[in-house]
Amino acid sequence: MLIVGIGGTTRGDSATEQALRAALQAAEQLGARTRLFGGAELLTQPIYDPQDDSSRGARAELVEAVRQADGLIIASPGYHGSISGLVKNALDGLEDLRDDIRPYLEGRAVGLIVRADGPQAGGSTLAALRSIVHALRGWPTPLGVVQTGEDEQDSARLILLAGQVFDFARARAT
Ligand SMILES: Cc1cc2nc3c(=O)[nH]c(=O)nc-3n(C[C@H](O)[C@H](O)[C@H](O)COP(=O)(O)O)c2cc1C
Repeated sequence: MLIVGIGGTTRGDSATEQALRAALQAAEQLGARTRLFGGAELLTQPIYDPQDDSSRGARAELVEAVRQADGLIIASPGYHGSISGLVKNALDGLEDLRDDIRPYLEGRAVGLIVRADGPQAGGSTLAALRSIVHALRGWPTPLGVVQTGEDEQDSARLILLAGQVFDFARARAT
């Protein structure tokens, strides 16, 4: 089982990416293989341009990983009350999966993580991510994790989130 993680920021000690890494690690402990596309990788993605097919190659690795994925975990910082452009651009690139037999994120559970300084942006950013996953035909997990760095339950919630993605993927496989 492959679970693909997408998210983080370009900051070296990105708290968003740390949370994503912890969730992927929890998925590995359940027996999944994981692949991370963190802030550094997302920065190499070209800006999505619907009129430029030549940029498909530059995002092919991420798109192919998502095509193969049995589940996903997406993590964004809250930037001005919503998801960051870096993360949104990566998700825009999933338009390349439009004509697949299993288009976009169809049939896959998607765990969502938000890191923000305050709860207001945390809530609105999580809602935005859920709407995006619905648009991409994915299944947001019941639990979404919002972190502000002040809650000692953060680690436990990431483990629960990873478990929900893993369980959904296993149920679909059988
Ligand atoms: C451009 C920008 C916009 C931000 N907007 C908000 C915001 O609206 N609400 C909030 O609570 N935090 C906001 N923050 C704070 C980030 O969400 C927070 O610092 C987050 O932890 C950054 O993630 P990182 O550690 O992975 O880089 C903003 C930060 C930046 C750089």
